[in-house]
Amino acid sequence: MAGEGRVLITGAAKRIGRAIAVELFRRGFQVAIHYHTSRREAEEVSRECSGAPIFQADLAKVDDLGRMFREIREHFGLLNGLVNNAARFTRFDPLAITERDWDFIHEVNLKATFFCCQQAARQMKEAGGGRIVNISSLGGIRPWAEHVHYCASKAGVIMLTKALAKALAPEITVNSVAPGVILFGEGDERSERMVQATPMHRPGTPEEVAQAVHFFLTAPEFITGQVLAVDGGLSQR
Ligand SMILES: NC(=O)c1ccc[n+]([C@@H]2O[C@H](COP(=O)([O-])OP(=O)(O)OC[C@H]3O[C@@H](n4cnc5c(N)ncnc54)[C@H](OP(=O)(O)O)[C@@H]3O)[C@@H](O)[C@H]2O)c1
Repeated sequence: MAGEGRVLITGAAKRIGRAIAVELFRRGFQVAIHYHTSRREAEEVSRECSGAPIFQADLAKVDDLGRMFREIREHFGLLNGLVNNAARFTRFDPLAITERDWDFIHEVNLKATFFCCQQAARQMKEAGGGRIVNISSLGGIRPWAEHVHYCASKAGVIMLTKALAKALAPEITVNSVAPGVILFGEGDERSERMVQATPMHRPGTPEEVAQAVHFFLTAPEFITGQVLAVDGGLSQR
């Protein structure tokens, strides 16, 4: 997909999502910025992207998500790019995880990712093709003992990516970027330990994740169903 693509980035008001939106805009994409609660920050990202449109939705609610895709179609145009970035992250002793804790993670990380892919793919088929990039995590590749539910949701995102790559070919590619430790300010003890274990001896930056997303949005269409870890080599240990 060349730089004229119309791309929705979910959870784009802050942190990694914001970096992806700014990077894609800088490289010539038309970006649509999704947010859930961070309206003020989304407006700032919009200003950084020359007034790019912003769309609000609680992606945990499939009806609300569907409403947002209808608004995108009407006010932005048919999508030919989607970056599923929005997610939740919590830490618990697995013996203490409740049904609510489990659903809290899965309804955004896995369920919303699937239904955003479904909605976008319908528009992409109509537009003649498209590119989907799902942000998974090193936690979907390597097991983290205090994040069992999060790891399971992100492993689900990776399998969703592979299965959809098969299902949506040849018009649509589906790939995943799996970040390692990306720090914003001071990390906690656990993330510091992970940074020390990282062969590159540093945390990653949101811009490095954004560059990997850009790669998949512009890569040869023969590349689909792939997972690219942006983790300084940590997955190799
Ligand atoms: N940071 C890391 O080290 C790291 C490592 C591995 C993987 N990742 C993955 O990279 C992606 C971005 O990470 P991050 O740390 O930048 O994420 P984040 O700040 O924790 O979350 C990104 C956005 O997700 C949105 N979101 C949460 N619940 C939502 C809901 N119900 N409906 C709609 N949007 C919702 C929030 O939007 P609002 O603020 O507008 O409410 C939030 O700003 C995630 O997929 C994450 O799992 C991050």
